[in-house]
Amino acid sequence: MAKYNRLTPEAAELLQAIVGKQRFSAGDGVKPDYAHDEMPIYGRYLPEAVCLAETTEEIAAIMKVCNERKIPVTVRGAGTGLVGGCVPVHGGIVVSTERMNRILEYDMRNLCVKIQPGVLLCDLAADALAHGVMYPPDPGEKTATVGGNVSTNAGGMKAVKYGVTRDYVMAMTVVLPNGEIIKLGKSVCKTSSGYSLLHLMIGSEGTLGIITELTLKLIPKPEKDVTLMLPFQDIATAIAAVPAIKLANLDPQSIEFAERDVIDSSAEFTGNHIFPTVVNGKEAGAYILVTLVGNNEQELLPKMDRLGEVAEKAGAYDTLVIWTDTLKKDVWAARSAFLTVIEAQSKLLDEMDVVVPVDKIAPFLVYVHEEADKQGVYIKSFGHAGDGNLHIYCCSNDLEEDEFKRRVKKLMDASYAKCTEFEGQVSGEHAIGHAKKQYLRESVGETAYGLMGQIKMVFDPYEILNPGKVCHDLEGGAEAC
Ligand code: LAC
Ligand code: ZN
Repeated sequence: MAKYNRLTPEAAELLQAIVGKQRFSAGDGVKPDYAHDEMPIYGRYLPEAVCLAETTEEIAAIMKVCNERKIPVTVRGAGTGLVGGCVPVHGGIVVSTERMNRILEYDMRNLCVKIQPGVLLCDLAADALAHGVMYPPDPGEKTATVGGNVSTNAGGMKAVKYGVTRDYVMAMTVVLPNGEIIKLGKSVCKTSSGYSLLHLMIGSEGTLGIITELTLKLIPKPEKDVTLMLPFQDIATAIAAVPAIKLANLDPQSIEFAERDVIDSSAEFTGNHIFPTVVNGKEAGAYILVTLVGNNEQELLPKMDRLGEVAEKAGAYDTLVIWTDTLKKDVWAARSAFLTVIEAQSKLLDEMDVVVPVDKIAPFLVYVHEEADKQGVYIKSFGHAGDGNLHIYCCSNDLEEDEFKRRVKKLMDASYAKCTEFEGQVSGEHAIGHAKKQYLRESVGETAYGLMGQIKMVFDPYEILNPGKVCHDLEGGAEAC
């Protein structure tokens, strides 16, 4: 069992010497934002110090200091995570990659780009397009760092066609807990060369090493796209349409869903009523959004007709075609901001990010709504219908926090058990952090959970890297602030 040391004045002095005075803060000088991510309900833990690193070598030096002294180190990107993954629950220091935000080099002959991990997703996506190529992963939170996306294996709104962040990581530089620097992967398209430590690192939430450089795959950008909005009577009918849409051989870039409540919240908050709520005289209860891509309009027109036929057969009230760039931008900006809107409108918030087989989305949602009603907690949901990945938010504006947590715990326990029964996974893209550990353990079973813990120990024998996360169990923790 690991026993940690607090940051001593001697260690603080060494760390400050590594990054310089301007990029080091400790004690009262640490900004309160470093105590939490976007889900503060999981607790606020202020680090003892924060180092704003700028290079791989600095991070290697920091790790040596902390490893020798058994001081915990938690790496943090933009802090937009949703499971407490970058929160130092066992104290120690935070190493922030926010200053490591340079796009280093495009290699157009091998279709890849080298970046530092603190580059924001929105910056990489825009820069790639300006270079005539596309970086496809498209999580809702565009101001997340790409390093954070890799650490959680984020998915996003284009995963149904292009895959998730994992599928775009070709190589990386990693600092191990003892300060050693290693390179994993190469700029090649395939490999059968031993255990993939690269893929072990992806999605490991900063528990095995610190990613300091990334080589990412790019693809040619599609020339033309169109978005189609399909309003349905309710969520069950909407979701029932998804297998037919997938089978229609249209290769959509996105198949997203939203329940009506989220649409109403979004319209109320933004004043933008871009999703019509009454269609052909009927109240819409749920929506599917589909994006089709192609080389030109001629290629898209028959695909749109086919989607219209499939949608009509599945009971869609209409197939609303969104061609213009302005409208497309508005629709997808509204979709990307669903979580921001829910956060702004809810005093207390918790979430599930389960992924289930597509045909289980509707029964799962029905189940969660029933359980939420029993607990007197309000549910808002949207997500990636094509992937079976649901974002379910439990909200309250009137309960006391302790009472809310008590009720949500019951709801979560029941819902994750149902998810396991449906052969689903605890997280589709937001990851485990410290918030979902119990559910990961129950879902994968003791043997698999134990193996994960042993892998952690191979990389990090002193257990200093992001302790208490994913599969790492320790009693107690730092004091919440
Ligand atoms: C989204 C985030 C919440 O899909 O994953 O918007
Ligand atoms: Zn998502």
